[in-house]
Amino acid sequence: MSEFLDLIDEQIEQLKNDNKYAERKILGSAQDTWAELDGKKKLILGCTNYLGLANDPDIKQYVKEIIDSFGCGTSSGPRIIGVTSLHRQLEQDLAKFTGQEDALLFNSAFLANVAAMTAFTGKEDIILSDELNHASIVDGARLSSARVQVYPHCDMKALENYLHQYQDCRQRMIVSDGVFSMDGDIVPLPDMVELAKKYHAVVVIDDAHATGVVGPGGKGTPALFNLENEVDILVGTLGKAIGGAAGGFIAGKQQVIDYLFQFGRPYRFTNTLPPTVIAVGIASLRKLQESPKILEQLWENAHYLKSGLSKLGYQIHPSQTPIVPVMIHDDTACLKLGQQLYEEGVFVQPYIYPVVPRGTARIRVILSAAHTREDLDYALSAFERLGRANGLI
Ligand SMILES: Cc1ncc(COP(=O)(O)O)c(C=O)c1O
Repeated sequence: MSEFLDLIDEQIEQLKNDNKYAERKILGSAQDTWAELDGKKKLILGCTNYLGLANDPDIKQYVKEIIDSFGCGTSSGPRIIGVTSLHRQLEQDLAKFTGQEDALLFNSAFLANVAAMTAFTGKEDIILSDELNHASIVDGARLSSARVQVYPHCDMKALENYLHQYQDCRQRMIVSDGVFSMDGDIVPLPDMVELAKKYHAVVVIDDAHATGVVGPGGKGTPALFNLENEVDILVGTLGKAIGGAAGGFIAGKQQVIDYLFQFGRPYRFTNTLPPTVIAVGIASLRKLQESPKILEQLWENAHYLKSGLSKLGYQIHPSQTPIVPVMIHDDTACLKLGQQLYEEGVFVQPYIYPVVPRGTARIRVILSAAHTREDLDYALSAFERLGRANGLI
């Protein structure tokens, strides 16, 4: 036992020495544009509350009504008691919204990715994965019995070489984030789909940062390129733009969804999301579709902050989305700026190696439609003051 604890202590000590020990913050209020973090009010610029719906009064009212009619939860998994009519409604709403035939809800997009990687592949297959894919894709691929080949970020030439090399595998599954969470860039889906057709490959797109954000009406990356029919498996989350509560989904053709219900272990062997969480998804999707101005505001905010930071002299990684990577490069300087911004009332997230490649440390700013011009000016003035004080701009 003591050897076990000694090993843990050693590794924690190492993290602390490397300045990589994470402290958990305590949220003392609802998650909103301003929230109480560790007892102090902070401007929230580091979360994925893209549409600003996480504390929306209409959605909260709907959730209150739902708890009276559907209770707290189903007390068992979806393969035992089934799901509520509310769950089924959200699946159908999500399928319609993303332009797919049907959808299946998972407890998180993490689990949805694990299901996508493990249920459809075996040892005769190859998974081709972008080097900047999310950890849940990486882990899903590891948990599958397929071979895994990582290709350089968005490099379609390299992808083609691998597709050619693995022609003899039973199946080739290409998997990519739709929007890459650290860089904010978008998958070159038209080229990928063309390759998939040429080499008879399956296309899996993880739209966690795209659903509700990218494409016409926020319908995601397949809709952005008018390629809804060419994506075999579309993964999304209900923990970001669509309500910010929790949950994930897979949308696709009817057979894909039926198959997942039969074989998706992360679906079968866990409890069902509570109706209150499902209600957040239903109400958020409805709100987005009824109020297109929300999405316009999100993009307007993104442009305003990006251009404001650039004018100050910060280098902004060329993001195509409301994710704004402010490049600091040096790990220590990045952590220091993140901490100073926090002390000045601006919550942003610094990312250093190994979460991002060496030498690309950055502050990731994420906009919300709910940010006001005043909020953004407050952030810009903190970035200006601290950037100058630290010799970064
Ligand atoms: C690209 C991507 N996929 C999947 C996930 C996991 O989503 P969830 O929180 O629903 O598990 C995230 C969350 O950060 C993500 O950024």
